[in-house]
Amino acid sequence: MEFFIDTANLEEIKEANDLGVLSGVTTNPSLVAKEGIDFHDRLREITKVVDGSVSAEVIATEADEMVKEGKELAAIAPNITVKVPMTLEGLKAVKSLTEANISTNVTLVFSVNQALLAARAGATYVSPFLGRLDDISHNGLDLIEEISSVFTTHAIDTKIIAASIRHATHVREAALRGAHIGTIPFGVIQKLAMHPLTDQGIEKFLKDWEQTVQSK
Ligand code: E4P
Repeated sequence: MEFFIDTANLEEIKEANDLGVLSGVTTNPSLVAKEGIDFHDRLREITKVVDGSVSAEVIATEADEMVKEGKELAAIAPNITVKVPMTLEGLKAVKSLTEANISTNVTLVFSVNQALLAARAGATYVSPFLGRLDDISHNGLDLIEEISSVFTTHAIDTKIIAASIRHATHVREAALRGAHIGTIPFGVIQKLAMHPLTDQGIEKFLKDWEQTVQSK
């Protein structure tokens, strides 16, 4: 599974990119609102830092408008992926954007049928939202597994982005259950690296090293 970061915060993106593990970025209107920045300017900044896919979401709800907005976003940089909501209008927009060779990420996916429709419309990525399903006592991870199984059975090459990830267990399970990508908040990426036995091991190695005699 590849790692995307789920944020519009440039410092977090730079820090995660410096770790060498980042393949892409996802943003959404709520994440952009938190930053209080101009969206297009921020996309220009992000695409200078990250080579991989950078998802930018359309606000329009009608297909024609989504396509217009999507083409404007895609013109910002070659690695922009246009994020489109999982609606009937969204599917029409995905079809047009795909015909225009623009990559798409269908967002707000909560069922296998939605994922299948999005894939058949030509989506490059689908984003099932794990955490928001868990919030209402459904099992987001089961959804990842089901979409993965259906895509494998039918040889669909649309990539599954496990989205709305809230903690490290989501990451491990999404990887085990077949997500191609996890889009992860920065705080969770940091926690993935942590283990108390690693910390204890370093402490002991450093302590033992003090007992050795070194010429240099
Ligand atoms: C994914 O592309 C979305 O931006 C994101 O994962 C949504 O997460 P949330 O449910 O924590 O808002």
